[in-house]
Amino acid sequence: MSPAGGATTVMGGPRDDQAAILADRLGRRYGDVTAVESVSLAIRPGEFFALLGPNGAGKTTTLHMLTTMLRPTSGTAAVFGFDVARQPHEVRRLLGMVFQDPALDDRLTARENLEIHAVLYGIGRKEREQVIDRALGWAALTEARDRRVRSFSGGMKRRLELARALTHSPKVLFLDEPTIGLDPQGRRNLWEHIDALREGGMTVLMTTHNLPEAEACDRVGIMDAGRLVAVGTPRELVARHGGGASDGGAEPGAAEHGGVDRRAPDPARRGADLEDVFIALTGKQLRDEQATARDRLVSFAKRGGEHTR
Ligand SMILES: Nc1ncnc2c1ncn2[C@@H]1O[C@H](COP(=O)(O)OP(=O)(O)OP(=O)(O)O)[C@@H](O)[C@H]1O
Ligand SMILES: [Mg+2]
Repeated sequence: MSPAGGATTVMGGPRDDQAAILADRLGRRYGDVTAVESVSLAIRPGEFFALLGPNGAGKTTTLHMLTTMLRPTSGTAAVFGFDVARQPHEVRRLLGMVFQDPALDDRLTARENLEIHAVLYGIGRKEREQVIDRALGWAALTEARDRRVRSFSGGMKRRLELARALTHSPKVLFLDEPTIGLDPQGRRNLWEHIDALREGGMTVLMTTHNLPEAEACDRVGIMDAGRLVAVGTPRELVARHGGGASDGGAEPGAAEHGGVDRRAPDPARRGADLEDVFIALTGKQLRDEQATARDRLVSFAKRGGEHTR
């Protein structure tokens, strides 16, 4: 079996070689619940695209359909022309995925986690070591290669998951909230790795609740209640939906923010105000959910954790 990267030139005639990722009225229902409804989207090779949306908007469900982990109940999708439902093996070889929930075996070492992945992808024994070393190098985990993942910091684990997603040299990366749970430093550090991939021309579809990360992407899609309600560059979205004082004349960097976490991946970068767009389109604030959860916890603690005794 050929090593990573070889899959793309064979199998003749991708349907649409312009788009790295193509979704056409993609939908997913669970009984009465419509998790994703009629999402159409085309992402070009080399594009950095962020899906932004409140909890439950359908971001993860969309990613899982695009990565063949979940069957759409309506519509179609393709990765570099390969249909996710009919050609799942071809699609899987082209993509790397970092899941929203941690998915490492923490009883194993970093190297062993990568090895399992390499074996699953059919990378032969000879190439395996080289490919794993390279991935560990990318993630700056060479020194830690033989340590059990259990002893890793959250940032190290996330970098390892990114490295694992890269092990088989995918053409497209799907990152579901890659920086979630990291402190600002860990977040910045991981973002530097993601940003390097961007410089190298990798196609990335990520989800995030982090405003500066979304602003740093080429285009942003805002999801709400299963639908893709707006797509554009951060600047376009602010011009179109920023409303109020900006009134189409908004320039990135013009907005000042109180209360919003402005620690951008690149601190020098001060983007347009996507938060306003998000609120206008979804009626929610990016940090609503955390604030609500916090309030609930406070009142729970005040009641003395009634259900725990
Ligand atoms: N297996 C399932 N069975 C039933 N409903 C589901 C299932 N998986 C997801 N859903 C529902 O689909 C909707 C979309 O969920 P999804 O996880 O895609 O949202 P999300 O945008 O990724 O949210 P978050 O920001 O919290 O990760 C939610 O209403 C969720 O409850
Ligand atoms: Mg999700």
